[in-house]
Amino acid sequence: MLRSAVAGVGVVDAAGSPAALADLAVVGLPAAGRARLGPARLGQMVAAVAAQPDGWGGLVRFDAGRRWFRRLELAEDYEVWLLSWLPGQDTGFHDHGSASGAFAVAGGRIRERTVAGAGQVRHRTVARGTVRSFGARHVHDVVNAFAEPAITVHAYSPPLTAMRRYELTGSGLVHTATDHAERDW
Ligand SMILES: [Fe+2]
Repeated sequence: MLRSAVAGVGVVDAAGSPAALADLAVVGLPAAGRARLGPARLGQMVAAVAAQPDGWGGLVRFDAGRRWFRRLELAEDYEVWLLSWLPGQDTGFHDHGSASGAFAVAGGRIRERTVAGAGQVRHRTVARGTVRSFGARHVHDVVNAFAEPAITVHAYSPPLTAMRRYELTGSGLVHTATDHAERDW
């Protein structure tokens, strides 16, 4: 039972409902404004949402066919997404267009891979309760490299419009494709 595997993070069996989304108000998301939010503020945001599973627990799904994700919040200057990860599911290397971002692990743990200038790959395990924040130039690969399902909360500012995909080669990261919001996710 996947649900029981992540029960410790407050995932509930109730069907997702508009009421569950309305609960997000309790985590104190800021009113929409024109200012671009920085990585630190985005980190605070995802930490607050991840710590309030009553607001989104009923929405979480796990999909063996493709990574599951759902947008929780869209404002003029930021957006918040909820993602789930079955063992082995991964993003591949990508950036976030011109957006800064942050993610918090709300259940399980995931592994982030980044590449240094010399092509050296760094592996970082991000455990439940941990937040990673990054600026617009960040490129990473995120994978659930573990045996248990994982849940993460992500925020971006401005809202994502495109993400470039990369392949890791012997000479470093090579841009291979660009995904566009509304068309590719
Ligand atoms: Fe990412």
